[in-house]
Parts: sequence; C-alpha cells; structure tokens
Amino acid sequence: MSRVSFSKIKLLKKNGIGIVAVTAYDASFARYFDDLGVDIILIGDSLGEVIKGKKNTHDVTVENMIYHSKAVRQGAKNSYLICDLPKKSSSNKTNALKHSEKIIRECKVNMIKVECNNYNLNIVEHLIKNKIPVCCHLGLTPQLISHKKNFRKYGKSQKEFNSIIKIAQKIEKFGAKMILIECVTDTLAKELKNIINIPIIGIGSGKSCDGQILVSYDILGISFNSIPRLVNREYLTIKNFDARIREYINNTKNFL
Ligand code: KIV
Repeated sequence: MSRVSFSKIKLLKKNGIGIVAVTAYDASFARYFDDLGVDIILIGDSLGEVIKGKKNTHDVTVENMIYHSKAVRQGAKNSYLICDLPKKSSSNKTNALKHSEKIIRECKVNMIKVECNNYNLNIVEHLIKNKIPVCCHLGLTPQLISHKKNFRKYGKSQKEFNSIIKIAQKIEKFGAKMILIECVTDTLAKELKNIINIPIIGIGSGKSCDGQILVSYDILGISFNSIPRLVNREYLTIKNFDARIREYINNTKNFL
C-alpha cells in the first residue's frame, strides 16, 4: 500500500497546502511522479484516449484498468493511488461492486473513482456501504458524454449549479472520501469548497479547489486527441521533449 495515507491528504487540505494529482498508466511514469512527491496518482480511464487511441473513454474495460493499475502500483511506492471505474463495468450495483473489489484486491489501489450524476447515486451509495473508498467525479463526466457540445463548462445555469451542489452534498452524506470536479465554473467550485468538507480536486475548475489534477500526456503535449483548452500552455513540455527526440534522431542519422 502507499505511504501517502488518506490522513495525509486530509491534512494537506486542512493546512491549505495544494494536493498535487496527475494521471499515470505505467510503472516508469508512476515512479517518476512518485519520486517527485506527487500526492495522488490516478489511473484514469483517459487511457482509452491516450493509450488506446480511441476518441473517448467509453470502451475501456475493467481488464484494461487492472493491467495499467498493476503497472502503476509497481512503480509507485508513496503516492496515493486512485483507479477509475470504467463505464462498462458500472452499469449496475452488483457489477460496480464486484469490479471495484477486484481492482482494489488485485492492484492494491487506495480508492475507486466513479463518474456521478443523478442517475447512479444508488451505485455510489452501494459501493460506500460495502466499504469501497470512493472519489466522485462531478461536472464534466466524459463517460456520460457522447456529444461534443457537452464538452463545456458546468454550473453556469442556476439549475445545473444547484443540481451539482445537491449531488455533492448527497455523496458526502453517503460517506464519499473525495470529490473531483471537472470543468465547473469558478463560482461553483468556490461554493463547493465552502459547503463540502471532504477534499476537492479540480481540473479546469479554477484555483479554489484543495488540489489540482492533470492528464500527464496533456502536460507532455502528446495526447492522442487534442490537448484540452483547460491545460495551461505554459506547462506543456512538448518543446523539450520534441527537441530531445529530434536530437537523438539527427545524431543517429549522422552517426551512420
Ligand atoms: O480519466 C481521467 O484521466 C480523468 C481526468 C480527467 C482527471 O478522469
């Protein structure tokens, strides 16, 4: 199990120290991030896009998640590990619980992330009742999106704002341990931070969250699909990365 405990994550929140989270899918990147002191590594179902080269996360299987989580566990000794429950394996309570237990047992990850909306709260409640530590993903939930127009900011309308607040309050009451908010408005993120007591990790949701997460391949600037606008272009390491690879190619060509 990881050296970074959930108590450490809560302490970071309490002391107002930003919780750093990033995705990884293999042992080498996991060890790299772990050595840098990243608090949380997410084995995200974004692997459907960045590893498998698909246009979304929808066909990621639980076997995919297990394969990559085992590799990440191999590389990460310190960071707190969270694994996504993929769309296909969470269609009902029984499946979701069976697969969450399998992932935790086989990969020794610390927590399961579930994309949440009004229609699957019974699944979240069931997982928590059965002692699965759950992180709920709110706002833009890629598993539930099939149309491009839904890649947008969430919480702009009062109705949507209230609905996301309500879901967050419900899942906190169920006993969820963490919330990830993707692409919600600054105002909504601030309100969630005011009324919710569990750690809130944000992506594209402003600076008021307890921590931030990015998809590692987006930071590298090599994600198979386009790099989302929410990624601060200053972080893109593609120039260095690209220069090094070109240098290697040129050196090799000139050497022969
Ligand atoms: O699957 C993933 O990588 C995610 C990120 C958007 C945080 O959920």
